[in-house]
Amino acid sequence: MLTLFAVVAGTAALAPGALVPVCAPPLLAVAAFAALTPRMARRQRELFATEEQLTASALHTVTALRDLTACGAERLAVERVLADVAANEAAGRGLARLAAVRHLLVALGVHGPLAVLTLSAPALLRHGMSPGALLGALAYLLGTLEPALRLLVQGLGPSWLRLTVAAERLAGTAATAPPEEPAAEPAENPSAVPAQRRTRAPALELRGVDYAWGVGAQPVLRGLDLVLRDGESLAVVGPSGTGKSTLAAVAAGLLRPDAGRVLLSGAPAERLSPADRAARRVFLPQQPYLFSGTLAENLAWPHPAVPAARLREALAELGAEALTDRHGGLAAAVGPAVLSPGERQLVALVRAYLSPAPLTILDEATSHLDAAAELRIDRAFRARPGALLTITHRPAQADRADHVLRLDNADWSLTGRTP
Ligand SMILES: Nc1ncnc2c1ncn2[C@@H]1O[C@H](COP(=O)(O)OP(=O)(O)OP(=O)(O)O)[C@@H](O)[C@H]1O
Ligand SMILES: [Mg+2]
Repeated sequence: MLTLFAVVAGTAALAPGALVPVCAPPLLAVAAFAALTPRMARRQRELFATEEQLTASALHTVTALRDLTACGAERLAVERVLADVAANEAAGRGLARLAAVRHLLVALGVHGPLAVLTLSAPALLRHGMSPGALLGALAYLLGTLEPALRLLVQGLGPSWLRLTVAAERLAGTAATAPPEEPAAEPAENPSAVPAQRRTRAPALELRGVDYAWGVGAQPVLRGLDLVLRDGESLAVVGPSGTGKSTLAAVAAGLLRPDAGRVLLSGAPAERLSPADRAARRVFLPQQPYLFSGTLAENLAWPHPAVPAARLREALAELGAEALTDRHGGLAAAVGPAVLSPGERQLVALVRAYLSPAPLTILDEATSHLDAAAELRIDRAFRARPGALLTITHRPAQADRADHVLRLDNADWSLTGRTP
C-alpha cells in the first residue's frame, strides 16, 4: 500500500497529466481485491466444511459397511456420500470462480495502466508532457507498481486465506471441546456439594426447546427446560404418542429442535460431529439394534476393543450371564431373529452400560424384561458414573428416579429435586 501511495505522489509530481491513467486502475483493482476478500473467506469456510463433512461421511460409511449391509441401506449410504461429494465440488468451484475473477481484476489493474499510457502517449506529448516524464511514469509502472501489486496478491492470496480460515475454525473447535475434568478439591466440608457438581457443565441441558414433526404440525415439545447433571437420574413418563421418544432423539442430538438449545456436556448438540456426540451420550432407542455376528460382537459394538474381562463384568452386573450361557457363550453366533425381545434389550443394555459417555438415554429399554431384572439394571445404571435419562411406562421405575418429567400433549411438568 505504501508503494501505491508513493507511485501516486511520484506521478502527481512528475507527470500530473498521467495521474488518472496510471493510478486509477491499480487503485480500483486494490479496492475490488479488498471487496472480494470477505466473500472468498466465506467460500473457503464452505469448502472446509464440505471437505470435513465428506471425510466424516466416507469414514462412517466405510466403518459401518457391515451394519449398512445388514440393514439393506447400501444405496442410501452411497447417495449420502455422493451428495457430500457434490457439495464439496460445488464449494470448490465457487471458490475457484471467485479466485479467477479476483485475479482478472488485479491483472487489469496492473497491466491496464501500461496499455492506457502507451495508447495515450501521443495525446499526452501533444498536450505538453515531456518524453522524460512519460518514460518516468512508465518506469514507475513497470519497476515499482507492478511488483508491489504482485506481492500484495501473493501475500493475501489463497494461502493466506486458507491459513486464516483454518485458524478461525481451529479456534471454533477449541470452544466446543469437551469440558476438562476439574481438579479434585480437598474435602474441607464433606457435606458441601461435590466440586465436580459445581464446576462441570451438566451432562444435558435443554433450554426453551420446541419440536414439531413438520411445518404446521402440532408441537410435540414446547418450551421445554431441563438440566441433568452427573450423578442424577430423570424418568420421563407420559401417555403413548405424547413425545417421549421424540424428546429422547432431541436430547441425543439426533433431531434438531425448531427453537431452543440442546447442550451435551456444555456444547451445542447441533455443532458436534457424530463422533463427538457419541462421546457425550449413549442412546438406546425404543427398538434395539442387533446384527448378525457373535454375541461378543453384538455386546461390544461400537467399541470392539473392549477387554473380555470388562465385558464379563458388565454381563454380571446387569444379570445377563444366563443369556450368554443359553446361547453357547460369547463366541456364539446370534442374530436379531434368534434372540427374544427381552434378550435383544439385554444385549443393547450391556452395550450402553459399557459406554463411558457422561449421559445415558434409555428409551423403554427394559419394557420386555421382568420386574426383578429391571430393578437390577436400574440400580446398576444409577450406580455408575454419569447422568441417566430413562423413558418408562412403569410407575415403579419412575419412582426410583431423582426427577420425573411428565409429558402430555406438549405440556410438561417436572417433579422431584429441581434439576
Ligand atoms: N418419524 C416421525 N414422523 C412424523 N411424526 C412422528 C415421527 N415419530 C413420531 N411422530 C409423532 O410424534 C408424536 C410423538 O411420538 P413419540 O414416538 O415421541 O411418542 P412416545 O411418547 O414415545 O410414544 P410411546 O409411548 O408409544 O413410545 C406422535 O404423534 C407421533 O405420531
Ligand atoms: Mg416412544
